[in-house]
Amino acid sequence: SVVPLNEILSDAFKERYGVPAINVFNDLTLEAVLAAAVEKSSPLIVQTSVKTVKSIGSDVLYTMWTSMTAGIEVPVTLHLDHCPERAVITECLRQGWNSVLFDASKLPVAENMRQTVEVVAEARGYGAQVEGEIESITGVEDGVGSDRAAEQQALDVTLEFLRTTGVDVFAPAIGNAHGSYKQAPELDFQRVSDIVEAYPMPIALHGGSGLSDEQFRDLISRGCAKVNISTALKEKFMKSSLEFLESAAEKQKWDPPSLFRSVREDVIGMTGSLMTLFGSAGRA
Ligand code: 13P
Ligand code: ZN
Ligand code: NA
Repeated sequence: SVVPLNEILSDAFKERYGVPAINVFNDLTLEAVLAAAVEKSSPLIVQTSVKTVKSIGSDVLYTMWTSMTAGIEVPVTLHLDHCPERAVITECLRQGWNSVLFDASKLPVAENMRQTVEVVAEARGYGAQVEGEIESITGVEDGVGSDRAAEQQALDVTLEFLRTTGVDVFAPAIGNAHGSYKQAPELDFQRVSDIVEAYPMPIALHGGSGLSDEQFRDLISRGCAKVNISTALKEKFMKSSLEFLESAAEKQKWDPPSLFRSVREDVIGMTGSLMTLFGSAGRA
C-alpha cells in the first residue's frame, strides 16, 4: 500500500537496511520498479525530479501513480527529489506526493533553515514528510545542482539544522556525487556515523549510481536508509533500448510493444538486484 516515507524509513533505519529511492521518468519505469518491489517483497521509494514533474505534469503523473499502486501489497511511497522551487513543492503536496526534498542548498544555511521550517509546516498539513539538505550534492540531477564540490557544514551547524527544522531525513554531502563517478569516490563514512550518533535519524545517500557494493553496505550499516539511484536507471533504459533496436534493425522487425517488454524486464532486473544488495528484499 502507499504509506508515508517515515513508515518505510523508520524500519529500514532500525534494522539497518537500505531502501532504493529510484528516479522514474515515465510510465514504463514507474510500472517496472513497482513490479520489482512486488517480485522482491521489498519496500520502495519512487522519486520524481522537478524536470519529470514539469514534462509529464503533476496531475498525469499522480494519476499514473494512484492507478499503478491501487491494491499493491508492498509498502511504497512517492517522493519529490531535489526541488528548489517552493511552487513545485506546493503543487506536488496538493496532488498527494508523500514527501519532498526541499533543496535550498544554494542558499546560506540560515535562510535555508528559515525556509525549510516553512516547508516542514506546509508538508505536515498534508501528512507529508520532508528531506533536508544544506550542502549541495556535487553534480547535476536532471538540471538541478552544480559540478562544484560541495562544502561540508560543521557538525554543530548540521545538528542545529536538524533540531530546528524537524526534517524527517537528511541528505549530507560526504564525497558522493550525482552521475557516474569519473574516479572511485573517497567517501566520508565517519560523517554519517557522527550525525546518526548525535541525532539518530535516517540518512539519505545521494549519488548512488557508481558506488561499490562495499560502499553501499558500509553506509547502509551506518544509517543510510534511503539510497538514491537515478543515473543507473537512465543508463539501463537507454542501453537496453539500444540493444533491442540494433537487433530489430537487423531483423527489420518494428514492434514497439516488444521493445517496451524487453526494456521493462531489464529495469525490473536492475531494481531487483539493488533490493537484494541493499537488504530491502523480503522486508515488505
Ligand atoms: P545518481 O544519479 O548518481 O544515482 O544520484 C541519484 C540521486 O542522488 C538523485 O537525487
Ligand atoms: Zn540527489
Ligand atoms: Na553517482
